Amino acid sequence: MKIFINKMIPEAGMQLLNRSDIELIMPENPEITYDEWISYCQQCDAILNIGAYKIDANFFDLCPSVKAVSLFSVGYDQVDLAEATRRKIPVSNTPDVLSKATSDISFMLMLMVSRLASFNSNQIRIGVRFKYFNPIANLGQELYGKTLGVFGLGRIGYEMAIKCQAAYQMPIIYHNRNRNIEMEEKLGAKYVSFEELLKRSDVLSIHANYSVEHHGMFNAEVFDQMKSNAILVNTARGGFVNEADLYQALVNEKIWGAGLDVTDPEPMLPDSPLLKLERVCVLPHIGSATLEARSGMARIAAENIIAFVKEEKLVTCLNPEVYN
Ligand code: DGY
Repeated sequence: MKIFINKMIPEAGMQLLNRSDIELIMPENPEITYDEWISYCQQCDAILNIGAYKIDANFFDLCPSVKAVSLFSVGYDQVDLAEATRRKIPVSNTPDVLSKATSDISFMLMLMVSRLASFNSNQIRIGVRFKYFNPIANLGQELYGKTLGVFGLGRIGYEMAIKCQAAYQMPIIYHNRNRNIEMEEKLGAKYVSFEELLKRSDVLSIHANYSVEHHGMFNAEVFDQMKSNAILVNTARGGFVNEADLYQALVNEKIWGAGLDVTDPEPMLPDSPLLKLERVCVLPHIGSATLEARSGMARIAAENIIAFVKEEKLVTCLNPEVYN
């Protein structure tokens, strides 16, 4: 079986893939263009894929030999899952193993913003000379007892919520498409409408699965309904947030701050005005970037490929109905 893997993954996955019944195809330079990616995929039976190139009807038309897709991510917004299902192509992701690492970044962004930490750290890097301790400068806000609003209470949102409860006794409210009774019980979280989430959250952390209908949904109209002390945290997908509106909301003090691990585009362009604001912290999509999480992702992504090679069900299949 020929498997295309577009980038090197951690050893935990490479070791599993190095089996005699798998011929691994990997480009020398991992930064391949879309056309190069397609031509590699055309030679293979399945792909272990890292990145945002669209896996949609056009892809499946161009690459008819691809019979399974193992994603190296928990998010699958780049895949047209309905189309894959229609063509009976199983698609898998890498859930759970990155929930703690990603929620650490959400929690850290919340703190970095609330205490203006990244802005001030950067001031030192660029050589700004501080006068000795100014009692009215660099004032952040504390988080004790503030309300955490989770947009998309799943595994990562849950991990963020338990950290916020343990550290700051934050009450948890959430909004999902469907109520998550199990998590409500575990956390004592309260389900609220989207409007109420906006009105009541002191920290609003985005953890939902992204799809095109969410594009730019955190826009001027939404920021107008939020609290003026609110901090927006996004470790899900950059597409959720209209960044031009976010900038306006911040400078007009509609909301207080924003911590973004994901942006649109990625990486954020260096001339984005958001990067000049004190109460903004931007990271380059490092939610799952720990040795532990990435090794777990590598293992699961490789196990899915091996299952395909053995003609078994993918272990973490997103569209198990393909096997019916
Ligand atoms: C994920 O696993 O979805 C991360 O955001 C990497 O894309």
